[in-house]
Amino acid sequence: MAMPRLSRLLVLFYTHSYITTLAVVLRTDNRTPWANEFERIELSCLIESITTVNPRIEWKKIKNGEPSYVYFEKKISGDLENRAVIREPATLVITNTTRSDTAQYRCEVTAHNDQKIFDEILISLIVRVKPVVPRCSVPKSVPVGKSAELRCVEDEGYPKPQYQWFRNKEEIPLDHRSSPKFFNSSYTLNSETGTLRFSAVRKEDAGEYYCRAKNDAGHAQCGSQMMEIYDINITGIILGVLVVVAVLLAITVAICCACKKGYFASQKQTGNNYKAPAKGDGVDYVRTEDEGDFRHKSSFVI
Ligand SMILES: *[C@@H]1O[C@H](CO)[C@@H](O)[C@H](O)[C@H]1NC(C)=O
Ligand SMILES: *[C@@H]1O[C@H](CO)[C@@H](O)[C@H](O)[C@H]1NC(C)=O
Repeated sequence: MAMPRLSRLLVLFYTHSYITTLAVVLRTDNRTPWANEFERIELSCLIESITTVNPRIEWKKIKNGEPSYVYFEKKISGDLENRAVIREPATLVITNTTRSDTAQYRCEVTAHNDQKIFDEILISLIVRVKPVVPRCSVPKSVPVGKSAELRCVEDEGYPKPQYQWFRNKEEIPLDHRSSPKFFNSSYTLNSETGTLRFSAVRKEDAGEYYCRAKNDAGHAQCGSQMMEIYDINITGIILGVLVVVAVLLAITVAICCACKKGYFASQKQTGNNYKAPAKGDGVDYVRTEDEGDFRHKSSFVI
């Protein structure tokens, strides 16, 4: 009676250890690695336990829910070709990353001689891209009290950059009340969209403005542009309008006088006389004109 029970226990123990040892188990050093563009990065896939001598190793890239092969039948394929190698046992090393490498990667190991024959590990890679010079728009001149909007846009940087604005090389604080220099200014600054908006500009808001786009990979800024603030001078405007009205009046009077003297009527007549021969015999007319010119010239020479 004791013997079968013991052997049953032994069998149980044996199967248990058999299962734990004959299983493929993967591990990684870093599930969320990142690199700057054009740098090298390792997607580590380490085998903690395996009995199968020649396991099948595959890597897939998953971008926008679409999987594609990166390593298949012991070859690097797809857009990583010539840019990646496998380092034993299953680590994928990208030697020169590009922005399109930002994706999820799955290391899959199939070990046919193990009890548990399959394991996989998912790694999210981020390739950071330095911002390029942003496009900035600054209004050239704004009248006092009017609104003004300064815009800054950069599309290359990844992750999406944050924006800073500078006036006369000094950073404009997010909250204008945090600095005595900007305390009374009417702006709101959105560091996500890059828009700096004044609801009513003051003389003190004039200056050289530029914007900087910044992320973890680096930063870039546009050249500074002048924003001028001018006064709307009411008396000046009234004077200007008066001058324009006076000039218009003078012109009208002059035209009326000319009409009365018959200046336009006589001009019309000469116009008609001029046209008639041109229509009838243009060549002759031109010739006589040329002769006249010639005569005039020769007499001048003599
Ligand atoms: C990486 O790739 C970029 C663009 O393809 C290239 O300009 C650069 O020289 C490469 N860098 C290295 C270290 O191979
Ligand atoms: C802001 O405006 C108030 C009232 O117009 C004035 O008393 C104050 O001195 C101004 N502050 C700054 C820093 O210009």
